[in-house]
Amino acid sequence: MNGPRKLYVKSFGCQMNVYDSHRMTDLLVPEGFTETARVEDADLVILNTCHIREKAADKVYSELGRIRMLKQVAAEEGRRVTIAVAGCVAQAEGKEIIRRAPVVDLVVGPLNYHRLPGLLARAEREGAVVDTEFPVEDKFDLLKAPSREAIRTRGISAFVTVQEGCDKFCTFCVVPYTRGAETSRPVTKILAEVERLADAGVRDVTLIGQNVNAYHGEGPDGRPWTLGRLLARLAELPRIARLRYTTSHPCDMDASLIAAHRNLPSLMPYLHLPVQSGSDRILAAMNRRHTRADYLDAIARMRDARSDFAFSSDFIVGFPGESEDDFRATLSLVDEVHYASAFSFKYSARPGTPAAEMDDQIPDEVKTERLYRLQAAIDRHQAKFNAECVGRTFEILFDKPGRYPGQIVGRSPYLQPVQVMAPPTMIGDIAAVKITQRSTNSLFGALVEASMSAEPMLTEG
Ligand code: SAH
Ligand code: SF4
Ligand code: F3S
Repeated sequence: MNGPRKLYVKSFGCQMNVYDSHRMTDLLVPEGFTETARVEDADLVILNTCHIREKAADKVYSELGRIRMLKQVAAEEGRRVTIAVAGCVAQAEGKEIIRRAPVVDLVVGPLNYHRLPGLLARAEREGAVVDTEFPVEDKFDLLKAPSREAIRTRGISAFVTVQEGCDKFCTFCVVPYTRGAETSRPVTKILAEVERLADAGVRDVTLIGQNVNAYHGEGPDGRPWTLGRLLARLAELPRIARLRYTTSHPCDMDASLIAAHRNLPSLMPYLHLPVQSGSDRILAAMNRRHTRADYLDAIARMRDARSDFAFSSDFIVGFPGESEDDFRATLSLVDEVHYASAFSFKYSARPGTPAAEMDDQIPDEVKTERLYRLQAAIDRHQAKFNAECVGRTFEILFDKPGRYPGQIVGRSPYLQPVQVMAPPTMIGDIAAVKITQRSTNSLFGALVEASMSAEPMLTEG
């Protein structure tokens, strides 16, 4: 074989998987792999999978069907292609994957991928290797730092996993089973990782975890630090212009986090705070551990800390036993919070979760109809939020070339894409932009002269 072996990684699901995919690449580059964006060129294909809903999990098998053909074509050319399935489907289904799709050489769980180089060698020797036992060692201690070049090609925004796993056991959710118990990384390790990213030009960091605001990693003082305290420490790094964190649970919005929002200008006033349902009866059946009133109280406390706060959420429609009245309570919650954006999903029964066994599963037509109504309500609020942005001046962090020549795109504090006529040399910069127009998914704006530059976040235009 000539030249380095080519690696193709495809990520499904959440940001945790995006982060893990990068870290798998970082492990394999020193082993002689180079990344390719073309699956047909790959010598090693890794599918980093998601198990959250049935549709997400099914994608893996349709993808594997396509890859099987590529593997055959390559074999005819005398080239060997190795196929690995990683991520949450790997964890949930283990060797069942190899039974259903014998084309797979290796199945590796989300807490085991630090062993990839050794597992690959074994899979190439013996075939059909499965490693999904939760390990005793901490994978983060064994991962390799990305090269400066890798960081640069990934752009000026980066995710950093600070917390993994979940102990909440919502009755619909597979995450506690696929990602294991909740653990937090130590502060010094996170700080070193963020400093390295900043050195290579990253300006915007999102701390991630399935339950990120339950963070309680060991601080340099040997005591557990809250997420609020960790954010305050990271906000001292001058090159990091923007900090965010996701995903939060409403029960873990503590005083230190709210204080962080009050005190740290680089902490963006935008929070993804999933509520799932507006009905107390359904919240209890979901084992969410909070009521509608608790959730609204958390939102009020955040708005009290910063009046320019905006929110997004996740919703599930058609959870077992959800009545029309329960669903209307969700619609009324959407109207009460007036979200800037939100995701909504039809309930999907997941194997091994308590809700899958509950009576009164909701027919698909009812779920579809409710999803449609909920999305209409969310879209209405999103359009209103975007319309209210027109005429205002925001600081925009430019991150890539725009749709048309002469344009570049950046993100507002609320993660809205903003298209601006400006030179590509401004990618990586933050500049004041007055929003002039909006379309369904984008805002358009014009650079504001330096002499009339914006307030740190948001000012009336
Ligand atoms: N840790 C986060 C979310 C993790 S999963 C939290 O606590 O909110 C992301 C989203 O997928 C969830 O917020 C939920 O809305 C959705 N989801 C999870 N399991 C689901 C299921 N079985 N059916 C439909 N949607 C689901
Ligand atoms: Fe899943 Fe609930 Fe944990 Fe979120 S808090 S990851 S929805 S079990
Ligand atoms: Fe999916 Fe696993 Fe993330 S199930 S949403 S990839 S934690």
